[in-house]
Amino acid sequence: VEKIGILGTGNVGATLGKRLLLAGKTVVFGSRATPSVAAKNLLDTFGDCCQVTTIADAARQADTLILAAPWRVSQQVIETAGKLAGKTLIDCTNPLTDRFDGLTLGFDSSAAEQIALWAPDAHVVKAFNTVSVATMDNPVYDGKPATLFYCGDDAAAKQVTHRLVEAVGLEPIDAGPLQNARYLEPLAMLYIHLAVHQRMGGNTALRMMRR
Ligand SMILES: NC(=O)c1ccc[n+]([C@@H]2O[C@H](COP(=O)([O-])OP(=O)(O)OC[C@H]3O[C@@H](n4cnc5c(N)ncnc54)[C@H](OP(=O)(O)O)[C@@H]3O)[C@@H](O)[C@H]2O)c1
Repeated sequence: VEKIGILGTGNVGATLGKRLLLAGKTVVFGSRATPSVAAKNLLDTFGDCCQVTTIADAARQADTLILAAPWRVSQQVIETAGKLAGKTLIDCTNPLTDRFDGLTLGFDSSAAEQIALWAPDAHVVKAFNTVSVATMDNPVYDGKPATLFYCGDDAAAKQVTHRLVEAVGLEPIDAGPLQNARYLEPLAMLYIHLAVHQRMGGNTALRMMRR
């Protein structure tokens, strides 16, 4: 069974963890000290398939890691995680201002590229940053899954991510190299503007249409 390490037990970490557990994966959460109530509930529900441990131990145990921490502490979480050589590191962060009303970097860099500098031996993939927690929890709108764009530079890590996105129930679309996180992070900002500041709410999602 594929073991996924999730660093952070907040909204995103616990929700992706639940979806991956429901899809039959094993999940090991890396938590600072006290895991969220949602993560504790997953321990009760999923038993041996689910574990909560330290950030370093979760990183050690899993070859696929999901970074589900606030952007401002991401460097610290990566340092705490330790050796990440050869691991797939899926970055969900958005480099938001404190008021969630803008991005703190972009255009000539991105959070994902910064994370790749902090974890140079890991294969970083940007994913899950443009969908709400409500959409992660239930990706289906009108009988069809919402779209999830991901990008990265390592083909194998992108394949792993593609399958995890499918396991969560979203429609994965390969959006190119990691540098394209410069486009995915502003896309998330647009989504946050609509969902939060224009009050459309989290039960809204983006979908790529074809004809
Ligand atoms: N909320 C959304 O709809 C959404 C959607 C897409 C992407 N994102 C992005 O995903 C990331 C996580 O968002 P979230 O909504 O899950 O945030 P959150 O609920 O605040 O959870 C973040 C988790 O990070 C962990 N963490 C580790 N070190 C930390 C520190 N020094 N300070 C605070 N937390 C620390 C904590 O887990 P432990 O207490 O177990 O250590 C915490 O619960 C963010 O970068 C966000 O921009 C969010």
